Amino acid sequence: MSSPKTPPYSDIDLKRWREYDHIWTDSLWMIEGRDRSGGHQLDYHGNFVPQIATQTYLRYTKENDVILDLFLGSGTSAIEAARLNRRLIGVELKPDLVEYVRDKIPPELLGDRIHILEGDSAQEETAARVRETLAAMDAEHAQLVVLHPPYHDIIQFSDQAEDLSKAPTLDDFLTLFETVARHGFDLLEAGRFAVLVIGDKYTKGELVPLGFYCMERMQRAGFRAKGIVVKNIEGNELGKGRDSNLWRYRALAGGYYIFKHEYVIVFQKPAALADVRQELPKVTSMPPWGRAQDDAWDRASHFIYHLTNLNALRRETKRVAAEMGLPVNDFARYVIRRWYNFHTHQAALDIILAHPRTRPEPDPFHHTVDFYLGEAGLRPEGFDLKLTTLPKGFGRDIAYAQDHPEELARWLYVHQSVEGRFHAANRLFIVLHDAVDPKRTWELRRDLERLEQSIGDFLDEPRLMRVTFDDQEGTRHQPTAGVIFCVRA
Ligand SMILES: C[S@@+](CC[C@H](N)C(=O)[O-])C[C@H]1O[C@@H](n2cnc3c(N)ncnc32)[C@H](O)[C@@H]1O
Repeated sequence: MSSPKTPPYSDIDLKRWREYDHIWTDSLWMIEGRDRSGGHQLDYHGNFVPQIATQTYLRYTKENDVILDLFLGSGTSAIEAARLNRRLIGVELKPDLVEYVRDKIPPELLGDRIHILEGDSAQEETAARVRETLAAMDAEHAQLVVLHPPYHDIIQFSDQAEDLSKAPTLDDFLTLFETVARHGFDLLEAGRFAVLVIGDKYTKGELVPLGFYCMERMQRAGFRAKGIVVKNIEGNELGKGRDSNLWRYRALAGGYYIFKHEYVIVFQKPAALADVRQELPKVTSMPPWGRAQDDAWDRASHFIYHLTNLNALRRETKRVAAEMGLPVNDFARYVIRRWYNFHTHQAALDIILAHPRTRPEPDPFHHTVDFYLGEAGLRPEGFDLKLTTLPKGFGRDIAYAQDHPEELARWLYVHQSVEGRFHAANRLFIVLHDAVDPKRTWELRRDLERLEQSIGDFLDEPRLMRVTFDDQEGTRHQPTAGVIFCVRA
């Protein structure tokens, strides 16, 4: 028999694809009844049907993969993981539910292949516990993330303030959801999938499309949408008897529809870094900005964050320029600079984070902290990473700068306002300089080997200094800074 041909994320043998009738690929799921085999019960208002777990596990995981469910509820996903020989970490806020689910899991799996954590999935501290649990399971990341949050306030799960169903406003709910989505993103292996199960709601006679709002928050967190499945809701007690007539009357009178569907939205975390490292060398020149960086063009070029392929970037640049009526050549120059700067910054940050002295800041949009760095025996401090060339205005050569890093750091703090993003928080500067051909200094940003060497040397024995300077309003600042020189001599 020939060896199977499987995708990198499932055990489906593509050579025998005709034999997988039991795996659904259509975007409409009409589920006739709850699968009550394998220990599943309809014992919790707000749980999902086991078939959602069955389908997504078979399509998006291999045996022994780790599934991370950040709203575990009554543990449907855990029971299904045990049944399909997958491993799972589940997080649930309500202590009684945690106990209840633990009781349902075969004792030999609990704490070994299945871990149930009590906690608030929106907290960084919980994400850290998930990371520890992954490490104990010999895994660095989860291979599938499952998110079945409360549908805002339509079912109140508890009185705890951290409960997403207690979020006072829709905005609060979405902010908390996005925080959980970001944790899921960080904890998921690149190239792997996430599943969001969610329905919409009505508030004061108006449809609130929670499903689409949450989908957009997933995309903000970095996920790419792969499919929206509409599934029927069945077995809903409201659909029966007297209540059903009441709802039907209300629908007819109020002009709306009775929910009979919800969504299973599937996302993938891009395998970004590997791609982008291959694309960066393809950039042949670095044109000047052509104009000051501004918010309107930054917003228009938001796609630089998730596009890792240069051709795709060029296509999107043209499309957006045409759609928004922007001068295409000027916009293209602006885009390529932002894209190159962002992805080389990320690559440098990845090198920094690979060092044992550092740890990441979980919020990628944190204004002043990219990572934390701790010298032996000292509390770790947050740092912003800044890649820069040796500025002409400093008026000294690279040898002088290397001998006077504090002077250079002060100069860089004081003169940063040209970008209009002034801040006086701790910074790690990477100063790039091509002494052979200064015009090619921009290329050092993608010289990852050289960066690895310079960053490694610095982090092995970090020399941090306190820099004192006054801003334009005369306020004194004293951040901690470090300067790494990355020089081609
Ligand atoms: C829709 S239910 C999930 C049901 C689950 N899929 C099942 O089949 O049983 C949402 C769950 O999220 C929990 N929850 C709400 N806010 C949370 C938070 N901040 N952290 C962790 N869990 C939370 C609720 O207690 C509730 O059990």
